[in-house]
Amino acid sequence: MANIVVFGSQWGDEGKGKIVDMLAEKSSAIVRFQGGNNAGHTLVVNGEQCILHLIPSGVLHPGKKCLIGNGVVLDPIVFCEELDKLAEKGLDVSANRLMISKKTHVIMPYHCLVDSARESTKSDSKKIGTTGRGIGPCYEDKMHRCGIRAGDFANKELLLEKIEKALEEKNVLFKHLYGVEPVDAKAIYEQVLPYAERLVPYLGDVSSAIQKANEKGGQVLFEGAQGTHLDIDHGTYPFVTSSNTVTANAASGSGCSPRDLDRIIAIVKAYTTRVGGGPFPTELFDADGDYMQTKGGEFGATTGRKRRCGWLDMVVLRESVRLNGPTELAITKLDVLSGLKELKICTAYKYNGELVDYPPQEQNGMAYVEPVYETLPGWDEDITDAKSWDDLPLTARKYLERIQELSGVTVGIVSVGPDREQTF
Ligand code: GDP
Ligand code: IMO
Ligand code: MG
Repeated sequence: MANIVVFGSQWGDEGKGKIVDMLAEKSSAIVRFQGGNNAGHTLVVNGEQCILHLIPSGVLHPGKKCLIGNGVVLDPIVFCEELDKLAEKGLDVSANRLMISKKTHVIMPYHCLVDSARESTKSDSKKIGTTGRGIGPCYEDKMHRCGIRAGDFANKELLLEKIEKALEEKNVLFKHLYGVEPVDAKAIYEQVLPYAERLVPYLGDVSSAIQKANEKGGQVLFEGAQGTHLDIDHGTYPFVTSSNTVTANAASGSGCSPRDLDRIIAIVKAYTTRVGGGPFPTELFDADGDYMQTKGGEFGATTGRKRRCGWLDMVVLRESVRLNGPTELAITKLDVLSGLKELKICTAYKYNGELVDYPPQEQNGMAYVEPVYETLPGWDEDITDAKSWDDLPLTARKYLERIQELSGVTVGIVSVGPDREQTF
């Protein structure tokens, strides 16, 4: 069976969780490979909503293995809270089906402190608008080679020693730069210990779990978080997250080979949203933007912030196709566009007096582009019950066909509502 990677092609919140939940039915294991609980993945089954931040979106399907790869940053407190919430729903969250790589870096309480202290000292235009979940500071420690890994939780002596080491520099910053109280290593150790002990049975070898699933003929589903334009290298730097969100990281972030990635599905929201700071060329500040925001229920699944809304941007999508190599597109939230008289698609940018097809690579270049639009007719019909291509109004089909033409990639999945069933 072919392994599948699902990734976000825009700035996150494209509906990855919903599509992963749907594809999980035919998979034997689902793996998260980057990001952490900055993600908010919403699944709706028979009208009941479930928001996941850390545990893979396959968890609602009994028996499927849910794996957390080495590329993830895991907050042990949030992990335990999520376990408890899922257990309350009657789901099996035992170590029989859930596994955390020993190489996964863990978010410590001081990472969250650095995240918020740093944001609060920035002026409004410089604020990244992070989720405040300690994501960046945890990845920093990983790169700085003073990070704590989930496997360290099985060795209490090492854990305390590493916390002490990690706090040496941070306490200087807390005291002298951010003006907050220094943090006591022993107190952190004692705060984290109960969660660490709970996490130990879940530790495992995710590389081997993926390999075994494949050897048995099972399909592995790789669940991306965030979106391509939040990628640390290829996104709108510095207004990005701190991990590589592109599909190549599905291999290194989980411990398999790029040759194990067969089908690559780009999740594309039928319009564009962004939450937090940073440039957004097709952003709308008018009634059409308000319509998308309200009708699409565009509030962040993690922080509850209002999402900024705008037209579909093919420059953004073209770059995502080039970086991720999708074998198909999954278009989500098409239903939200019902009722708009005209729809615009941004096909290129004007930048420094020239027409460009790809995002400029200079820092903040995206803030200085002017979108070039083409206009397509909209449709009035409610399409939330559509079950096939033929059920869509002609103008909706034309909109999808235009996306195919402009991206050069086939639309394989269409989503017309939040429920698992509202997909064809
Ligand atoms: P993710 O982070 O990419 O998993 O996306 P989020 O869950 O943060 O945001 C997507 C939102 O849109 C969630 O509230 C979903 O329930 C909802 N959603 C997903 N697909 C559709 C769709 O086709 N139509 C509508 N109306 N809502 C959808
Ligand atoms: P999912 O997986 C949308 C954004 C934040 C901020 C920037 C950096 O649900 O699509 P961070 O806390 O990662 O350091 O914040 O990235 N961001 C997201 N936006 N969806 C997400 O995840 C996001 N995860 C981070 O708003 O602008
Ligand atoms: Mg989300």
